[in-house]
Amino acid sequence: MSSDTQSNRAHNFFPWTIQATQDQAVEIAGGEGVYFWDSQGKRYLDFISQLFNLNLGHGNRQVIQAIQHQAATLCAASSMVRHEGRERLGEQLAEITPGDLCKAFFTNSGSEANEIALEMARMYTGRQKVLAKYRSYHGTTMGTLTVCGDPRRMAVESGPPGAVRFFDPFCYRCDFNLTYPDCALHCADALERQIVMEGPDSIAALIIEPFTAAAGGFPSPPGYLRRVRAICDKYGIVMIADEVICGFGRTGEWFAVDHEDVVPDILTVAKGLTSGYVPMGAAIVNRAIADHFEQQMLPIGCTYTAHPLACAAGLAAIEQYESLDAIQNSRKMGQVLAAELRLMKERHPIIGDVRSQGLIACVELVRDRNTKEPIVEFNTAPPLVDEIKAQFIERGLYLYVRWNLILLSPPLVIEEEDLRKGLALLEEVIEWVANRAS
Ligand SMILES: Cc1ncc(COP(=O)(O)O)c(C=O)c1O
Repeated sequence: MSSDTQSNRAHNFFPWTIQATQDQAVEIAGGEGVYFWDSQGKRYLDFISQLFNLNLGHGNRQVIQAIQHQAATLCAASSMVRHEGRERLGEQLAEITPGDLCKAFFTNSGSEANEIALEMARMYTGRQKVLAKYRSYHGTTMGTLTVCGDPRRMAVESGPPGAVRFFDPFCYRCDFNLTYPDCALHCADALERQIVMEGPDSIAALIIEPFTAAAGGFPSPPGYLRRVRAICDKYGIVMIADEVICGFGRTGEWFAVDHEDVVPDILTVAKGLTSGYVPMGAAIVNRAIADHFEQQMLPIGCTYTAHPLACAAGLAAIEQYESLDAIQNSRKMGQVLAAELRLMKERHPIIGDVRSQGLIACVELVRDRNTKEPIVEFNTAPPLVDEIKAQFIERGLYLYVRWNLILLSPPLVIEEEDLRKGLALLEEVIEWVANRAS
């Protein structure tokens, strides 16, 4: 074998990276609960649930057995045939999602779920444009990557036409220089004015992550999603809540929209749907959109829609969220996490802000608390970022670092001892960064 063949990157691409840097990627050989290990036996505390998806942690026996059982009985099927798993999973999702969300289009990923949602919104409204926040990521297909505001989109611009972006409800760095709650959600007023000026009759959908994850790490301020819901109602715009990361207990409720009692027209999910054990996503639509397609052609689909293995994993994962009280635990451990992060912020001036909801959190690092100058500029990747990642890896703490943001999303089944252990390691690295940056 040539050394290139031996290299981990010789014959497969790693996403979102300059390929050569992948020689430093952690190797995974196995995992149990909130830990995984490499082939040398080094253990890592998984503080990001692999990629925000293993909500039940590693090696959940019930989900694995459900997949094994399904593989032995009906391993594969066309998306054009009925089977018990797809019917039961559709029913379950209609039950746990809010309001009249009632019918799922199953996909293989979150990107596809959002792509399908955008396509359905266009077909349903007969309109073309899509609104999305600047700080947003909705997927890697040409449609979803073009729509999202995250700088990753720039590589494929101009992409399909019709994407319109608006400023975020991001209170720490308010684009309007206002302070919540005195601002009375001025950002929502600005959004409405933008819609009027764009021409509401041209706008099919507005897509939004209730808790913005990788693109900024912040929750929507209280009241914001309700305002967005009202604006969408007023102008006949399909509201799509992208819960690919927030769904299935991540924020301490089944779905993040539940915190505000908001019912979107389409809710998209993936990751936690199967706890990441088999790839699957879904666009779950309300009654009106479901009815629209009763007599209209639905001209979109995928070969692997409602794959039996994915349906089995999804059903078992939902059962496990319930029987392990994973969502209550997310809420309970989320309180510990929020309180500890606040204390950590008091101890370290390099922490500009901490934000969390349930078991998703973001620590934002700054050079100066007054100016909020980030320690790493937006959309840059200086060596410091790789050095910070290396510090975490060295300590066996696995999480997500991007620009000046550190994101955490441990498995929902994490116990307090492991949570505190991870936070202590996090603090060690923050101290290291403070010394390195001074
Ligand atoms: C909010 C959000 N939406 C959509 C996606 C795309 O999901 P997938 O990577 O499964 O295609 C992601 C991926 O991380 C995401 O974070």
